[in-house]
Amino acid sequence: MATIAIIGGTGLDKLPALQDVHEIKVDTPYGATSNVLKKGRIGDNEIIFLPRHGENHSIAPHEINYRANIWALKQQGVTHILAINAVGGISEKMSPEKIVFPDQIIDYTHSRQHTFSDEKSGSVLHIDFTYPYSRLVHGVLRSTAVEMGLVFEGEAVYGATQGPRLESIAEINRMHRDGCDIVGMTGMPEAALARELDIEYACCALVVNWAAGKGDEEFITMEIIEQHMRNGMIVVARLIANALPKLVHLKA
Ligand code: HPA
Repeated sequence: MATIAIIGGTGLDKLPALQDVHEIKVDTPYGATSNVLKKGRIGDNEIIFLPRHGENHSIAPHEINYRANIWALKQQGVTHILAINAVGGISEKMSPEKIVFPDQIIDYTHSRQHTFSDEKSGSVLHIDFTYPYSRLVHGVLRSTAVEMGLVFEGEAVYGATQGPRLESIAEINRMHRDGCDIVGMTGMPEAALARELDIEYACCALVVNWAAGKGDEEFITMEIIEQHMRNGMIVVARLIANALPKLVHLKA
């Protein structure tokens, strides 16, 4: 049996479906996690929930302690992570409220603590990152979305930017030329750190706006983002509930 964690992103700082919640504070060599870990169950399935921006959404993307978060989940025996990320849509199919399971990443972030390979560990890990996401978890997400009759994209390149500002039109055009389909600020180094600790990790992204210059509106406003987020996260929560019974049966 797999031990599943859900890392909640913007719009999913709390998981109302989580029951019998037990809070776990983990001390890590890397400092504090974004929040206490919340162990509970959705239906019959046990999970650990961690909101990466904190429960009150107070931690900016570049200030998230990604290493502490992933290390703490590993320490709690987590074998599989489902990461939820709000993103902007770059390519034509990535319209607001679309659910996207990316299969590739380009990392544009900088100055983040992006590896466990440092003086403390005393070793250098050159992890394979050919396929940055777990194909097992990705497969479960896809099959669940098909069963639910959701409109989704199962192949996409996630471009991870530094934030917290949104991008200029020129930056998005460059990312488009690079092959990015969606843009978000928190996909990296989270995915790579999970791989370093041998945790199967995949992403369920929700498009909450057209990226800069891609939509009809001249500017991206919080009103637009919040409205798409509210609608879309309801579907994401249903998807999580339906995917969990299959995820827990993945081989640990
Ligand atoms: N850019 C970067 N990150 C995002 C966006 C965006 O347009 N929307 C949601 N997260």
